[in-house]
Amino acid sequence: MPVDEPSVLIVGAGPSGLVLALILLQCGISVRIIDKQTTYSVGSRGAAIQPRTLELYAILGILSDLLDVGELLRPTLAKYNHGDIDPTTFVKVVDIVEPTPDLPYPNAYYISQVRHEAVLRSHLRKLSCDVELGSELRNLEQFPDRVVAHIERTDSDGNKVEEKAEFRWLVGTDGARSVVRKQIDVEYLGETRAQYIALGDIIIEEGVDPQFWHSWDGSAKSIIFRPSGVNDKSFMFFYTGRSEELSNTTITREELVNDFREITGRQDVKFGSAPWLSNYRPNIRMVDKMQVGRVFLAGDAAHCHSLTGGQGLNSGVHDSFNLGWKLALVHHGRAAQTLLRTYDEERLRVIGYMLRFTTTLHNQSFERLQAGKKMEDSSWDRGGDLQMLGVNYSGSSIILQETSAVAGINNAYSRPVGSGPASVEASFRAPDASGLVAAGSAASPSTTLFSIFNVTTHSVLLFGRDADCSAQISDVIARIPSGIARAVWLLPQGETGAGTSRCELVLEDRTGSAYGGYGTPVEKLTIVIVRPDGVVGAVVPDIDGVERYFANLVRSNL
Ligand SMILES: Cc1cc2nc3c(=O)[nH]c(=O)nc-3n(C[C@H](O)[C@H](O)[C@H](O)COP(=O)(O)OP(=O)(O)OC[C@H]3O[C@@H](n4cnc5c(N)ncnc54)[C@H](O)[C@@H]3O)c2cc1C
Ligand SMILES: *[C@@H]1O[C@H](CO)[C@@H](O)[C@H](O)[C@H]1NC(C)=O
Ligand SMILES: *[C@@H]1O[C@H](CO)[C@@H](O)[C@H](O)[C@H]1NC(C)=O
Ligand SMILES: *[C@@H]1O[C@H](CO)[C@@H](O)[C@H](O)[C@H]1NC(C)=O
Ligand SMILES: *[C@@H]1O[C@H](CO)[C@@H](O)[C@H](O)[C@H]1NC(C)=O
Repeated sequence: MPVDEPSVLIVGAGPSGLVLALILLQCGISVRIIDKQTTYSVGSRGAAIQPRTLELYAILGILSDLLDVGELLRPTLAKYNHGDIDPTTFVKVVDIVEPTPDLPYPNAYYISQVRHEAVLRSHLRKLSCDVELGSELRNLEQFPDRVVAHIERTDSDGNKVEEKAEFRWLVGTDGARSVVRKQIDVEYLGETRAQYIALGDIIIEEGVDPQFWHSWDGSAKSIIFRPSGVNDKSFMFFYTGRSEELSNTTITREELVNDFREITGRQDVKFGSAPWLSNYRPNIRMVDKMQVGRVFLAGDAAHCHSLTGGQGLNSGVHDSFNLGWKLALVHHGRAAQTLLRTYDEERLRVIGYMLRFTTTLHNQSFERLQAGKKMEDSSWDRGGDLQMLGVNYSGSSIILQETSAVAGINNAYSRPVGSGPASVEASFRAPDASGLVAAGSAASPSTTLFSIFNVTTHSVLLFGRDADCSAQISDVIARIPSGIARAVWLLPQGETGAGTSRCELVLEDRTGSAYGGYGTPVEKLTIVIVRPDGVVGAVVPDIDGVERYFANLVRSNL
């Protein structure tokens, strides 16, 4: 293989592919990312970015740029009767809650997918990587040590050029119609509903308040507008109940405007242009494996959900976080190739769960609208699951929970967000903590755990104060495999940390939020190992536990 050939080919430059490229590049792996389209996609599409995804972006170091191009989700839906200008009722879609040190981003954001992808590409560019547009994967061949990809490129004169290139690994993030998935003979199991929903983005110059979602339902035709977070005039619309003949064609702006007037009786609303118009048929499908040899699937290529609940894009990003660090360890020869099997071991169960509840929501919303019924107000009450804070990999073969020293469990699926400090459990998200300062310094700036975690390295968090702990901690640090993990000693409030020189990072938990949020005692050693994807890989009471965790992770006989 030529030395300058990138190690990984990423096929498809949607959010899943872009995020994976960023993670791999941060891990020092060269990538090539191609997309068959000749221009970037338009449309606000997957605009709801869930709290857990925001946290992952914080760990990846790109969150602030994304928040800059989005806005907090607007929580209220206004419902109207035909002909009325004033809403009949307001329904709360979500509760907006206050951030806490362990949960700094408790609310979903709206970020138009166009802007979201542009921010991801700008970060790729900083790492000297550009999306190669007009390059389509046609087919691939696998060998024990490489993957051969046949790509049809468009050269600078606009001519098609066939190219054959070799890579160590190939990841298909090529969306629901994935060519990669077909090439590796993986089935896309599930159903496509015989339902058509017209949707798109439209500018509304006047007559619809951008502070709310708006809904007209209860007859054969229904329309919902949701502010799309681009500006106060830009809305995404969902329209069900077009005529049979038209239902599978792309709606035009004129049809939408005329039908809107008919459905709502509103002549006062002034529309502008419609930058994106589309026709959607619910597809509810997933694969039963996400890896065949050196080829992986992530994002919509591996699963697609009803767009109710806004999980699709988010789940794809979570796939990329799960796969990225594992591929990096294996590629760099630090873990056996069998570690890669834990990618679909961990993800498939989470995706199956997600698919079930987004389908339930779908049944409660679009199915009813299609039948000409009003949506039940309760179908807007979507519960904590959607925030993805309770995503867990319990039962995974690389997770280790050895101590009961930690009180309670961090079950965010059932724990109401904002209900107070969590505690920590292996296989769940590692909470954030703030107000951490360099031990022994009077006035150094404070930091947070999310800015310490990163996508390349495990963080071994050491909790515990006394002299006994200090001695043990030196031993622990000495045995942490170098290059894949680093130790962070979190001293209780008021401790200065004498004799801690062997620890790379010693921080005082000045506001108590780390001990509080993790539920760890101060007088006893507790070790929490946080994976590069922000998941607690292990909670252990001693050095042996640390050794067991890493030995299991890198061993060859999983
Ligand atoms: C109207 C709508 C609303 C949605 N709302 C939400 C929401 O609120 N929240 C949410 O999380 N999700 C939502 N989604 C889903 C979300 O948009 C998708 O889940 C997301 O785009 C999937 O990202 P991806 O990177 O996996 O794939 P995609 O974004 O589909 O990207 C795949 C890319 O691969 C390229 N490609 C395909 N084949 C090839 C090939 N052979 N060679 C090279 N390139 C190829 C394509 O051109 C495409 O750019 C919504 C979707 C729609 C349509
Ligand atoms: C992640 O943290 C480790 C340990 O401090 C550091 O060596 C590495 O450069 C960091 N990686 C990134 C991408 O910030
Ligand atoms: C669209 O639907 C009509 C009738 O429902 C059908 O005759 C036609 O073949 C469909 N077109 C496509 C492209 O599926
Ligand atoms: C872990 O996630 C699964 C879904 O993958 C869910 O069924 C289960 O309840 C979660 N575990 C806990 C303790 O919340
Ligand atoms: C949703 O409705 C379909 C029928 O339209 C039914 O077959 C399916 O079991 C329902 N799924 C869920 C999760 O409620």
